[in-house]
Amino acid sequence: MDFEFPFPADMLVPALVAVLVGVIGMLAYMSLKPPPAKICGSVNGPPIESPRVRLSDGRHLAYREVGVPREEARHKIVVVHGFNSSKDMNLPIDRELIDELKLYVLYYDRAGYGESDPHSPRSVKDEAYDIQELADRLGIGPKFYVIGVSMGGYPAWSCLKYIPHRLSGVALVVPFVHYWWPKFPRSLMQGAFMKLPLLDQWTFRLGYHAPWLIYRWMTQKLFTPLSIMSGDMTMFSRKDLDVLNNKSFSTNLRRDKVTQQGVYPSIHQDFITAYSRWGFGPLELENPFQNHEGSVHIWQGYEDKIIPYEVNRYIADKLPWIRYHEVPDGGHLFMYERDFCVRLIRSLVAAPLS
Ligand SMILES: *[C@@H]1O[C@H](CO)[C@@H](O)[C@H](O)[C@H]1NC(C)=O
Ligand SMILES: *[C@@H]1O[C@H](CO)[C@@H](O)[C@H](O)[C@H]1NC(C)=O
Repeated sequence: MDFEFPFPADMLVPALVAVLVGVIGMLAYMSLKPPPAKICGSVNGPPIESPRVRLSDGRHLAYREVGVPREEARHKIVVVHGFNSSKDMNLPIDRELIDELKLYVLYYDRAGYGESDPHSPRSVKDEAYDIQELADRLGIGPKFYVIGVSMGGYPAWSCLKYIPHRLSGVALVVPFVHYWWPKFPRSLMQGAFMKLPLLDQWTFRLGYHAPWLIYRWMTQKLFTPLSIMSGDMTMFSRKDLDVLNNKSFSTNLRRDKVTQQGVYPSIHQDFITAYSRWGFGPLELENPFQNHEGSVHIWQGYEDKIIPYEVNRYIADKLPWIRYHEVPDGGHLFMYERDFCVRLIRSLVAAPLS
């Protein structure tokens, strides 16, 4: 008896393979795909406890104000928090300094962190426009200072690129380094990169080359993909540990809220955006203060093990309009020491040279 397959046998194997590949692909995709964000204020999401502004695209940004009322302020400062942080980061800016300099300090949750709506996908450019729109919704005036701390450095670079006319001055504090920035000597970048722990190197490479893998990579349990996530503290300098061990001071007032909407919309997307292709690099920027009406500063700890000093020192060397402050025994957290914080603010808001 003649037996006939519904279709010829030589097509069966490829068909089975195709189905199999499809199933594996789907399983892989499902585990690569992050769960949906738990949006603040939604039915099962965390509550909204802070004031927020609504942006023109409908997203909200949560903020926290410190210092004198906006109307009385002589200097308005927007502080941009780092990786795995939030508007509840707590710079030691005390009452004395606030009153003397008439400071108004605005902290906000970057997109996806704390109580600010996630923004996906997003770009380095969006970070500058988020800051500008936040400032304008609150009516803080045509110009303001920006302090970008650590990963908050890339939004600060973005401000220098996209909204220079809105800036009174900028302080990049232990600012983020992108190892694939254009126009840097290869040996410099490689030397700095190779000093990092091996797994961190791979995580950074993935952030740049394969961001779609980041969620899976960061949440797997086999190894710690970023050394700052492991509890062993080797990434902190001696002085950093003093800051972290100071019982009477916390670098973040509400740790529990940082990733409450999910790790993906907060820390993972921040990481992916930071390591995306920016479309520019710091070396291509121009001095926004041609008439010395403001100043740009980089603060860097020589003993910082998270952000290597070599790259930021090089930037300051190439861009003479940036004032470079290297703290000899400083690590990654010196801005949480009162005296450094005071120096940082004073140098930023100092009367412009004329
Ligand atoms: C974020 O901070 C929390 C609390 O300090 C910590 O448990 C977690 O490992 C951190 N995540 C990353 C990716 O660094
Ligand atoms: C600990 O923090 C408090 C409050 O900010 C500060 O006054 C004190 O000087 C700090 N102590 C050390 C050892 O840094």
